[in-house]
Amino acid sequence: MSLTPIGGLPQEGLRRKITAASLREFKLRHEPITCLTAYDYPTARLVDEAGVEMILVGDSLAQAILGYENTLSVTMDEMLHHVKAVRRGVKRALLLADMPYGSYHLDAKSALENATRFVKEGGAEVVKIEGGEKRADVIRGIIDAEIPVCGHIGLTPQSVNVMGGYKVQGKNLGEIEQLMRDAVTLDRAGVCCLVLEGIPREVAAMITAEVETPTIGIGAGPECDGQVLVFHDILNLTFAPPAKFVRRYGDAEAVIKQAVDSFRADVKSLQYPGDAESYHLPRETRAGLETVLARKRAMRG
Ligand code: KIV
Repeated sequence: MSLTPIGGLPQEGLRRKITAASLREFKLRHEPITCLTAYDYPTARLVDEAGVEMILVGDSLAQAILGYENTLSVTMDEMLHHVKAVRRGVKRALLLADMPYGSYHLDAKSALENATRFVKEGGAEVVKIEGGEKRADVIRGIIDAEIPVCGHIGLTPQSVNVMGGYKVQGKNLGEIEQLMRDAVTLDRAGVCCLVLEGIPREVAAMITAEVETPTIGIGAGPECDGQVLVFHDILNLTFAPPAKFVRRYGDAEAVIKQAVDSFRADVKSLQYPGDAESYHLPRETRAGLETVLARKRAMRG
C-alpha cells in the first residue's frame, strides 16, 4: 500500500497541507502565519483557496453569526454544526475548533470528551482553549490523547465577567509576569500555537521571543509570529464600530445592502424576472397548447 505523506507531496511546494506540526517551520523561517475565522462552507472555501494557513471556527460565532450578546452562551452542538460545515470547505488550511465556555471547565474527562467530538464528528485538527497556567492540566490531557491544542491568553473573551469587560491585559508588571508564566507553561505543555489577544505590543514581543511555539496575535502588535482576525470584522459585517486593532479590507455590508435594495426595487417595478430569466415551453408543446386553447375558445364562442 502506498501512502501520501501527511503534509502533501514535496512538489506541491507552497500549497502543501498545513499541519499542527508544520506551524513551527513558519516561526523558524520567520514567515508570518495568517489565520481567519470562518463559520460556514462558502467562507471556508474562499479563505482556504486564498492560501490562509489557519482557519478558526471561533466561538466568536456566538456574536458574528448567532447574534448572542457574548461568547458565553454558544454550545458544543452549535459549534459542532459550524465546524462540520467549515470542514467541508477546507482542503489545505489547518482547521481549528474553539472549545466553547463550559466545555472544558468542569473536569478533565468532559474536556477530553468534547475535544474528541470536535475531531471525530467535526473533522477539526486542533482545538483552542482559553486560559494559561490554570488550564495547563486540561491542555496536557488533551494533547496526551493526540489532539493538538492552540492556547489563548491575554484578553480571553470567555472571562468577560471576571475581567469586568473587554480590557487590554498585561499593562502592569504583575500582569506581565503572569502572562509570561502562562505562555511558558503552555509552551512546555506542548501547545502547537498560542493566541495572544489584547495585550501591549511590547509584552507580545517578549512572549514571542521567549516561547518556541508560534504566537498568533490579535490586538497584540506586529512582532507575533502570525495574525488572526475575525472574518466579519475585516469585511464590515458586525453592525458595530471596529476595535482599534481591526483593519477593514472590504465593505460587505454595503455590497449586500445594495444588492438587496436592487432586488426589491426590481421586483416592485416588474423589472425582475425578465424573459431571459424565465423558462419556456418547447416549440412543439407550445404549438400543441395553442391548438388546445384555440379549440376551447371556439367551443365557448
Ligand atoms: O473566537 C474567536 O474568533 C477567537 C479569535 C479571534 C482568536 O477566539
